[in-house]
Amino acid sequence: MTSRMTLAILISGNGSNLQAIIDAIETGRLNAEITSVVSDNPEAHGLSRATRHNLHSRVIDARDYASRSDYDEALQHYLELIAPDYIVLAGFMRILTPGFIDAFEHRILNIHPSLLPAYKGLNTYQRALDNGETQHGVSIHLVTAELDAGPIILQASYAIEAGDSVEDLQTRGHQLEHMMYPQVLSWLSDNRLTIKDGQIYYEKALLEQPILFDR
Ligand code: GRF
Repeated sequence: MTSRMTLAILISGNGSNLQAIIDAIETGRLNAEITSVVSDNPEAHGLSRATRHNLHSRVIDARDYASRSDYDEALQHYLELIAPDYIVLAGFMRILTPGFIDAFEHRILNIHPSLLPAYKGLNTYQRALDNGETQHGVSIHLVTAELDAGPIILQASYAIEAGDSVEDLQTRGHQLEHMMYPQVLSWLSDNRLTIKDGQIYYEKALLEQPILFDR
């Protein structure tokens, strides 16, 4: 990036990843500006995090729109106005329409609590426990029209121990998530990571498999 990278962060709930990104910016670990925090849920706790840090926020309430495409049109309209470099999904609990994804092609990032391509979709911790998995993880990927299936940038795994609960996995996963999102964003902001025609390059080399997060 030549000028400061701008981000719109989309949330629906707690916003702990939003907080991690805010903290990384405020402590100088990430050279970026959050131009807006957008929530589909007026009750999202993440909105109060935005307010506390004097960030602009906007609620586009899911209940005000009759259909998914109406909602996405409104969201698209707003994001086109503010024109961020990247749209960062951070616990945004909606499936985006292909039209929306096309409008911001290769500029939408998502964080997902599993080792994709395993466990796409919801309730990943419970499903991993139910299946007796011995490891689980976190993935950050580019968003494409197919749910949780875009090219993966960064992954981290952690062990599932006997007797672990959903909360145990969530705690372990969130600790990683809060380091990983700022990491990927800072690589983008210093051009160590670049995206061209849907291909990801890390230090100028085409990324052929996900980067493993080095804690
Ligand atoms: C995270 O676990 C993320 O992987 C998933 O949604 C959760 C959001 O948590 N996509 P928070 O709102 O950032 O605390």
